Amino acid sequence: MSRELEHLYILDTTLRDGEQSPGVALSAGDKLTIAHQLARLRVDVIEAGFPYSSPGDFAAVRAIAEQVEGPTIAGLARCFEEDVRACADALSPASNARIHVFIGTSPIHRDAQLHMTQREVHDRAVAMTRLAASFREDVEFSPMDASRTEPEFLAEVVTGCIEAGATTINLPDTVGYATPDEWRTLIGWMYDRVPALRKVVLSVHCHNDLGLATANSLASIRAGARQVETCVNGIGERAGNAALEEVAMTTQLHPEVYGVQTGLDHTHLYRTSRLVSQLTGMLVQPNKSVVGANAFAHHSGIHQDGVLKDRRTFEIMEPGHVGAGSSLVLGKLSGRHALRERLGELGYRVDGEELNRAFVRFKELADRKREVTDRDLEAIVTDERGTDAEAFRLEHLQVSCGTQMRPTATVRMMLPDGSSREAAALGDGPVDATYRAIDSLVQLDGTLEEFAIQAISGGMDAVGEVSVRLRSDGTLVSGHGADTDILVAAARAYVQALNRMMLKRNSVERTVASGAGVPA
Ligand code: KIV
Ligand code: ZN
Repeated sequence: MSRELEHLYILDTTLRDGEQSPGVALSAGDKLTIAHQLARLRVDVIEAGFPYSSPGDFAAVRAIAEQVEGPTIAGLARCFEEDVRACADALSPASNARIHVFIGTSPIHRDAQLHMTQREVHDRAVAMTRLAASFREDVEFSPMDASRTEPEFLAEVVTGCIEAGATTINLPDTVGYATPDEWRTLIGWMYDRVPALRKVVLSVHCHNDLGLATANSLASIRAGARQVETCVNGIGERAGNAALEEVAMTTQLHPEVYGVQTGLDHTHLYRTSRLVSQLTGMLVQPNKSVVGANAFAHHSGIHQDGVLKDRRTFEIMEPGHVGAGSSLVLGKLSGRHALRERLGELGYRVDGEELNRAFVRFKELADRKREVTDRDLEAIVTDERGTDAEAFRLEHLQVSCGTQMRPTATVRMMLPDGSSREAAALGDGPVDATYRAIDSLVQLDGTLEEFAIQAISGGMDAVGEVSVRLRSDGTLVSGHGADTDILVAAARAYVQALNRMMLKRNSVERTVASGAGVPA
């Protein structure tokens, strides 16, 4: 017997909590690209950023509020007047916008970080929720670290914030400490203790420190939560947040258990995952559920035999359900229009100069390689995009190496002042020589923490992709480069990381300067 399904709201916070993943630095252009794709995926709410934290975040939230249609656009604000005002201002162009205010409520947050009493935290939360409600009808309040907050106090703060105008109450398991049973019990208890919760949407925001973020989110739905906060690929602070694709597919496959349905277009899940992985530099592990490379790969003979006879023997969903498995191949006769169309389908809106550059790279590749796959295109376009505020650009690279000589690299680069300079260096290997030459031009003291090469597609003509992680002054960034020449790919990856380092340094200024309250 079919049962009436209730709507489950998906608030996606890839652009806010996801961007807080170590090593991730998204430019405003990257954020806009991801936001457009989230709109195509039909999430209900896009948490676009934390406007007060930096001018860059403010501008990105403003651009998303101006240009992305469909979902509600949310911005995060601490319980400070200037935060709430900056958030309202950044969101002002959006027809549907939400101000999301939060404050730490647990004893450890009150005592160690905020130095505030329960009463002070309560009053601040209520006052800032009221201020937010004076700008927008749609206000979300989060008692940060709810899972470690005294339940009675949690109920008191939540009651005050509903009276002050909150329309969504979000309970964060900020440090990923809760277990499904415990979380479900707490939510049930909250519904009994705070009857007004039935008049608003109850949301959960679960972190994955114990690998339970999805399980806790699902348990909350059974207890009555009707919004879940997620990140694509489960990225986010530390071990990440509940993965959007996992919540989406579990609720879809088990309507009888959860009694809800999302408004998502599941056929965009895989593409969204790829896009986020490319732009954040956070690779998706092959065995990741729903979107990993092995999620639909059958290795053992028995499984292969079964799937050939009837897919349902060993598959609970088909690749096509999540938009995986179809890769259109372009070749050297494909034109600019076909390239633009395909990139658009993959989530990249590429026009003007950016399209020209991508087309040149595409043609070069198509000359060397018979078939250019979606993975090749993704690699080219993310590599070509670099960052909006591109401070460094690789113009030329020449490397000599071999069995009888010390590797030498000559590099020419465009520098932040617009000048073009050249340097040469010797190294222990060709990559080392290249990076030393770049370092001598850039003079940004960094440590290369990770260097990985992989072939994107098979065969001798495969495009090679290099990923690096670079740390400087406590800031960690990643970079990607792709080319059929692996040394060029290595140089591009390094230069992209350097550009992101510059971007990140500029954008953390205000968060650091203002001290406490950075969310998890
Ligand atoms: O984890 C957390 O508590 C957060 C809040 C700001 C919602 O990210
Ligand atoms: Zn969080």
